[in-house]
Amino acid sequence: MSTLEVEDLTAGYGDARVLHGIGLTVGEGEICAILGPNGAGKTTLLRALSGMIKARGRVRLGGTDLAGRSPDALARQGIAHVPEGRGTFMPLTVEENLRLGAFVRRGRDGVNADIERIHGYFPVLKDRMKQAAGSLSGGEQQMLAIGRALMSRPRLLLLDEPSLGLAPLVTRELFRIVQAINAEEQTTVVVVEQNAHLALGIAQQAHVLETGRIVLSGTAEQIRADEQVAQSYLGYRV
Ligand SMILES: Nc1ncnc2c1ncn2[C@@H]1O[C@H](COP(=O)(O)OP(=O)(O)OP(=O)(O)O)[C@@H](O)[C@H]1O
Ligand SMILES: [Mg+2]
Repeated sequence: MSTLEVEDLTAGYGDARVLHGIGLTVGEGEICAILGPNGAGKTTLLRALSGMIKARGRVRLGGTDLAGRSPDALARQGIAHVPEGRGTFMPLTVEENLRLGAFVRRGRDGVNADIERIHGYFPVLKDRMKQAAGSLSGGEQQMLAIGRALMSRPRLLLLDEPSLGLAPLVTRELFRIVQAINAEEQTTVVVVEQNAHLALGIAQQAHVLETGRIVLSGTAEQIRADEQVAQSYLGYRV
C-alpha cells in the first residue's frame, strides 16, 4: 500500500497559483526527493501537504483522504513538517522543544523513551538539553528540528532544505542520520533539496519541479544518470 498519494494538487497564495496539478506517489517507507530551482514551488508543495496553506486536489496517507484538514489534524494523522528555517523555538531549551514535539500524541506514555531514542540519533542534543535552542549551531538546530518532528512518531516526515546554510560535513552527517531514521523506523520521507547529489544519494525516487509542475520523475538512479536533463532543469551537475 502506498503511504502518500497526491493527485492533481493545486495551491498558491491569494490569487497567485503556484502549484499546477501535482501528482506523485511515495511508497511506504520510501525516501522521495523533490528537486528544482529557486521559486519552483518546492516549499509550497510541502506546505500544502502539511496543511499550512490551502490546497485543492487529493491527498491520501495510508489510504485515508486528507483533503481540507487543518495542520493539527494532519499532524495527528502522522505528518511532521520540518520547515525551511527549521521552526525551532529559540528561547526554549532543547528539552522543551523536544517535549513540544510530542504535543499531538494522545498520551504522555513513552515521551521519555522517545527522547532517549532521539539522543541515539543525535547524541550532541543529549549534552545540550538545558541550553536554549537559540544558542545551538546551525547543524545542531537542524538536528533539533528533526528530533522534534520525530517526537510525534510521524508516518510521513517532510524536510525542507535540511542542508541550508550548513557545512558539507555537517550536511552529510545529517543525511546519514535521516537515512538511518528511515531505515530503523520505516518513516516515509519527502525531502526538498537544492543539493541534488546528496538527496539522490539517499532517495529511492525523485521528482523535478519547475514553475509549479513536475517536469521529470524517476528513480534516483535514473535522475542522476540523466545528466543532460539534470543540467537543464537543475542548472548544475548532480
Ligand atoms: N508566503 C508567500 N506569499 C506569496 N507568494 C509566495 C509565498 N511563498 C512563496 N511564494 C511564491 O511562490 C513561488 C514558489 O515559492 P516556493 O517558496 O514554494 O519555492 P521553492 O521551490 O521552495 O524555492 P527555494 O528553492 O528558493 O526555496 C515563488 O514565486 C514565490 O515567490
Ligand atoms: Mg523553498
